[in-house]
Amino acid sequence: MKGSFPHFMKKEIFEQPESIKQTMRGRILNGSEVHLTGVREHMSDIRKSTRLIFVASGTSYNACMASRQILEELSEIPVIVELAGDFMDRLCPIFRSDVVAFVSQSGETADTLDALKYARKHGAMCMGIVNVVGSSISRLTDFGVHLNAGSEIGVASTKVYTSQIVVMVMIALELSADSKNKSARRIAILQGLRELSANIEKTILLVDEHVQRIADQLADDRSILCFGRGYHYATCVEAALKIKEVAYIHTEGINAGELKHGPIALVDENLPIVVFSSMDLTAVKVQSAIHQLLARGVRQRLIVVCSESDTQMLELVASREGVDVIKVAHTVDCLQSVLSIIPMQLLSYYLAVARKLNVDCPRNLAKSVTVH
Ligand code: F6R
Repeated sequence: MKGSFPHFMKKEIFEQPESIKQTMRGRILNGSEVHLTGVREHMSDIRKSTRLIFVASGTSYNACMASRQILEELSEIPVIVELAGDFMDRLCPIFRSDVVAFVSQSGETADTLDALKYARKHGAMCMGIVNVVGSSISRLTDFGVHLNAGSEIGVASTKVYTSQIVVMVMIALELSADSKNKSARRIAILQGLRELSANIEKTILLVDEHVQRIADQLADDRSILCFGRGYHYATCVEAALKIKEVAYIHTEGINAGELKHGPIALVDENLPIVVFSSMDLTAVKVQSAIHQLLARGVRQRLIVVCSESDTQMLELVASREGVDVIKVAHTVDCLQSVLSIIPMQLLSYYLAVARKLNVDCPRNLAKSVTVH
């Protein structure tokens, strides 16, 4: 039921403070310890593995990209993220010493399911991170975690994306539970998880009307570029996917580090550009990308998405009249992408509404892609 919402997509975006809570319910004990039953039972095997390989398609793949850095940092195991279709095109070498995770909303995506059958055949231990209970991927994996985000009806995945990131961050916490030298880091992330629902709610309130105005300005554009790096590389790619699929506007998500290696040739004062800022090691590099864009006259069409605590970025853009800044709530680096994607989910939604498109059932798309 859509309730008072005009579309499922908007309802599901606004449901995220609650869906995130459901994803975490019963899994953070005493506020200070993650307990993922399915994963815990296999912890020693996972720790012994030589590679953690995450396989997924579309938005689920982007969620893996958003979580890769924290999984690597906390597990200290090499983490590889694979597009399911490409994984099978290459018949990627898989060994018994690998743990392969299959991430999917529906649990029925044909490419991801094929990759699962292939990994099983090669003796890898297979983990499922799936929303739909009883789905094929959920049944065929050795163990796993359900996302518990509730049913997602809109074809564009929104609340499941944020729940997928949260589950993968919780897996990273489980994998580092015994590591004393990571305890301060773990405490900061657990604090971020506890506050995440409230921060999503705050972000929706902060950005909703602002993003609606931006959508009205961009509704007739033919092309948009989104730049981010580090944790926000996934955010810019996911933002581009959302805008493409529901608003039918050509949008590209590009690593900000690649700007000078080609994409800068596209930039002129007419092209709308979205840049995601982070307050981590990538901050200075993203600021440098903004300087390069401003030097090419992008000012009137530049949108910066940053945390409300990102004083460096706020100071940089304060004196640049015309630059639009979307401020989101602040959290720990590995969860910031959960908050930064929200204005882009809303932007894609409002763009589709402004363009009078079928938001919940975009042309040529199905909720579950069970064909090749
Ligand atoms: C985009 C979207 C698709 C799916 C992809 C994988 O909004 O929904 O890109 O993410 O088809 O689907 P699942 O997660 O069901 O395997």
